[in-house]
Amino acid sequence: MKLKESIESVRKTFRADSDPFPTDIRSIEALRVKYLGRKGLLAALFSSMKDISDNDRPLAGSLLNELKQEINSVFYVNKESSETNQVAHDESDYTLPGLKFPIGHIHPVQQTLDEVKSIFMNVGFSVAYGPEIDDDFHNFSALNFPPEHPARDMQDTFFIDPDTVLRTHTSNVQIHLMEEQEPPLRYIVPGRVYRNEASSFKSYNLFHQVEGLYVDKNVSFADLKGILTYFVKRLFGADTQMRFRPSFFPFTEPSAEVDMWSEARGQWLEILGCGMVDPEVFKSVDIDPDVWHGFAFGLGIERICMLKYGIDDIRLLFQGDKRFLEQF
Ligand code: PHE
Repeated sequence: MKLKESIESVRKTFRADSDPFPTDIRSIEALRVKYLGRKGLLAALFSSMKDISDNDRPLAGSLLNELKQEINSVFYVNKESSETNQVAHDESDYTLPGLKFPIGHIHPVQQTLDEVKSIFMNVGFSVAYGPEIDDDFHNFSALNFPPEHPARDMQDTFFIDPDTVLRTHTSNVQIHLMEEQEPPLRYIVPGRVYRNEASSFKSYNLFHQVEGLYVDKNVSFADLKGILTYFVKRLFGADTQMRFRPSFFPFTEPSAEVDMWSEARGQWLEILGCGMVDPEVFKSVDIDPDVWHGFAFGLGIERICMLKYGIDDIRLLFQGDKRFLEQF
């Protein structure tokens, strides 16, 4: 049978043409057209079936189908590996994760400040700001630091002139707020403060504080404890152990410092100062201390940031070293 020979010869040329199987898309397509195309060799064989005698047709048909299957399966088997080759060729791997744009980070001090702000704003505190350069009255005298009083030595001060300072704490804004507004007041005041002291792992000339001021009728120390307990547990977790330790500030009476227990260090660590607004402070801003009561607190953001993230040197927060900052 002539067709049988033709089938065998097409099989031979196909085997020769397809081994090795081409790797670029054009040659693969040319091969496919040559054998499987509408005017390809296989189609030609199929069309010569009409000249086959009825007796021979079943055998010829099955031989032809066998060849067709062989050719198809060679294309099928090689398709996958040739696709991988193709990918290597144009050097794109579409399965890789996308590129990240280097858009920078929020500084850990700002992250901590944002968190502190949102905790207090959730319970009705508003945010206020005040001057970093201020006069002696707002930074000291109105806060009940008498002139020449040794309490001023608690905070080493950068003087611009004898009456003008870089504020040593955000408590100056307590005075501005009470001068400008009638109670009730419920504010937190974030901002930079400055201290003229040698820098070390635990102190730096510049840092950030958040001041809190709450003035209303019938405010007691229990309110102060309630707010600050809520704050510490929100920030550090509900299991955090804390204590109020008696302390002294000229502008609060009684005064306390809040410590929290650090499991990592096995010791109590001071995290903020607080107290009931001293009646002398109310008098300096013409608020009647028999009618109004209040509490205030002040916390250092760097200190809280260091506790939260286990940072052991405050200077790292000011050096702008990306290798450090990118960890947060
Ligand atoms: N201003 C105090 C400090 O810088 C902190 C403080 C604020 C204490 C308000 C009591 C009330 O140390």
